[in-house]
Amino acid sequence: MRVLVTGGAGYIGSHTLLELLAQGHEVCVLDNYTNATPEVLTRVRTLSNRTILDYTGDVRDASMLDKVMQDFMPEAVIHFAGLKAVGESTEKPLYYYDVNVGGTLALLRAMGRAGCRRIIFSSSATVYGEPIYLPYDEAHPTAPTSVYGRSKLMAEGILSDWAAAQGDVSAVLLRYFNPVGAHASAQIGEDPKDVPNNLMPYIAQVAVGKREALTVFGDDYETPDGTGLRDYIHVVDLARAHVAALDYAANHAGARHFNIGTGQSYSVREMVRAFEKACNRSIPTQQAGRRAGDIAAMQADPRRAAAELGWSATHTLDDMTASTWAWQSANPHGYDT
Ligand code: NAD
Ligand code: UFG
Repeated sequence: MRVLVTGGAGYIGSHTLLELLAQGHEVCVLDNYTNATPEVLTRVRTLSNRTILDYTGDVRDASMLDKVMQDFMPEAVIHFAGLKAVGESTEKPLYYYDVNVGGTLALLRAMGRAGCRRIIFSSSATVYGEPIYLPYDEAHPTAPTSVYGRSKLMAEGILSDWAAAQGDVSAVLLRYFNPVGAHASAQIGEDPKDVPNNLMPYIAQVAVGKREALTVFGDDYETPDGTGLRDYIHVVDLARAHVAALDYAANHAGARHFNIGTGQSYSVREMVRAFEKACNRSIPTQQAGRRAGDIAAMQADPRRAAAELGWSATHTLDDMTASTWAWQSANPHGYDT
């Protein structure tokens, strides 16, 4: 299939490009590089030995979208382009709604003009909010607690309404849990521009000597060791879920939500220990209070994705930590190395 990948130079997008190319799909990337570098696509081209059409532009730019659609004529779009920092979303709500909601609207309009009928959307487990029960299944009520989460839920709603009104289109809404890890080549991985917000890249930067110690946010949660529990998923498993979603979209009309997680969860302390094993170094930690907005535990019920997409995660926690360490130690300054 010809697949337009918005935000394809980003962390999840770059891993997905490699999986799409490995399965014989043709890809085209639209990215404005607000959180990525063109070096990513250079590496993806080298690793895959394939050509990739790419456009530098904004997903909100209608004329740019029309040009991409006319040149490449995609049969499907995977829509990663968006902003994802929860804290920043509170400070810049209009910017987040503009990019995450406005970008999705602009893309759907351009797809309509070009006759493209399939979209896979990057949503997030954060749309569920404070758990009423765990693991979350797709029927769990949604009540996001941040601007970021609300922007994702609004985009989901628009995609569902679009699919219902058209009848012959497909929207697959993937609610990701916590993506971690890197490509087996150690050439592609997560490269946060500033101080990492997320646990795994922060641990990796401590391990490589870029930061002194991990701050553990909260040790008084109602969890076995008092630290937060999350469903970490290897980014290559997550990338493969998009390939499965494309196949699904080719055969199903309408909108459908899927949890993309492993169904297992690990605490902050378990993640630190697993990483210490992978890098054979000790990771200094300092204890702090809870981070505002954090919840105690999150875990996916991934059974719908297994039953309907034929997809399940296969990578282990050791795969997640070992691949992160391989990437971080080979690229201590990320793509600037
Ligand atoms: P990322 O920041 O690495 O990738 C996003 C890409 O989109 C970047 O390459 C960025 O330059 C590009 N981009 C941003 N705004 C754009 C715009 N207006 N026009 C064109 N390109 C633009 O993030 P990621 O971790 O790869 O996440 C991809 C998607 O998955 C995002 O929509 C994110 O919200 C969602 N998601 C991420 C996580 C996570 O923890 N990483 C969890 C759940 C959902
Ligand atoms: N944590 C620390 N220290 C840090 C960073 C994180 O102790 O320096 C803890 C957090 O308190 C939490 C756990 O590690 O208990 C995981 O935190 P992350 O920031 O890595 O991940 P979150 O679950 O908070 O959020 C992530 C993404 C969201 C996305 C969500 C989906 O940042 O965008 O996963 O589940 F919506």
